[in-house]
Amino acid sequence: MSRLTSRTALITGAASGIGLAVASRFAREGARVVIADRDSGAARTAAESITAESGPGTARAVTVDIADEAAVESAFAELAAADWTPDVVIANAGVQLFGQDAKIAEVDLEVWQRTVDVNLTGTFLTVKHAVRSMLATGGGSIVITGSPTGLSGEGNDFTAYATTKAGLHGLTRTVAAAYAADGIRVNAVIPAYTETPLVTTISDDPEERSAIVSRIPLGRAGTPQDVEGIMVFLASDDSAFATGSLFAVDGGMTAL
Ligand SMILES: NC(=O)c1ccc[n+]([C@@H]2O[C@H](COP(=O)([O-])OP(=O)(O)OC[C@H]3O[C@@H](n4cnc5c(N)ncnc54)[C@H](O)[C@@H]3O)[C@@H](O)[C@H]2O)c1
Repeated sequence: MSRLTSRTALITGAASGIGLAVASRFAREGARVVIADRDSGAARTAAESITAESGPGTARAVTVDIADEAAVESAFAELAAADWTPDVVIANAGVQLFGQDAKIAEVDLEVWQRTVDVNLTGTFLTVKHAVRSMLATGGGSIVITGSPTGLSGEGNDFTAYATTKAGLHGLTRTVAAAYAADGIRVNAVIPAYTETPLVTTISDDPEERSAIVSRIPLGRAGTPQDVEGIMVFLASDDSAFATGSLFAVDGGMTAL
């Protein structure tokens, strides 16, 4: 368990769900991890529990709202000043506004805007400043968390969310092509329905939950731990020849 020794990884949205599982696993694989989240209390708690598990100096928390460019820029500056410049950035933070995001005729502009601000603009800002930082240090690996809703009409009940995720798949390819020669790789991971605090609206509703699980060939919901392995692969040199690709970890959902 030391595939990420001497790496420093910044993970947005790491105070909860998929990001938290990935951060804990990265620390167990030998990386130093930065828990970057707008929820400062939860980010601190996550960093403390990872430090307790993986040892002193393995995790630190940074409070950042990824939709705020000044905050993103200052997070990277703070890490550089502390000699924690990341060579891996997992652009994972995102929102899905259950009960408000819907089929397009029912979507308020404000709901659209809030979703775009975090998922699309926030990820754009995370990746922009990750690339600037990696250009200065000689390269690195960036992974964006996408979604099956951005691949097909699967997410038609969530117009804003699905559209932002489709945009992120495009961002992955565009940035990968632009910076491959600089040693910066960019890939996306596409989890299917994964039980985290984001989707409690679904997991608390047995009928909706089983309707979704019935569309997953492996016959179960994903867990945050299901996403860890592909993230370790993409963060490590094992994936040295992979860039601009979308990797589904979805129990076969997008194969249908
Ligand atoms: N859970 C799923 O079924 C599923 C499926 C496909 C993709 N995803 C994607 O995975 C990613 C992680 O989702 P999750 O399920 O772990 O959700 P989660 O709600 O458990 O965690 C999301 C984290 O992001 C943080 N966050 C939200 N907005 C932020 C902002 N503006 N700035 C900084 N931090 C912010 C939250 O505080 C939270 O800690 C998201 O991009 C989501 O769209 C989730």
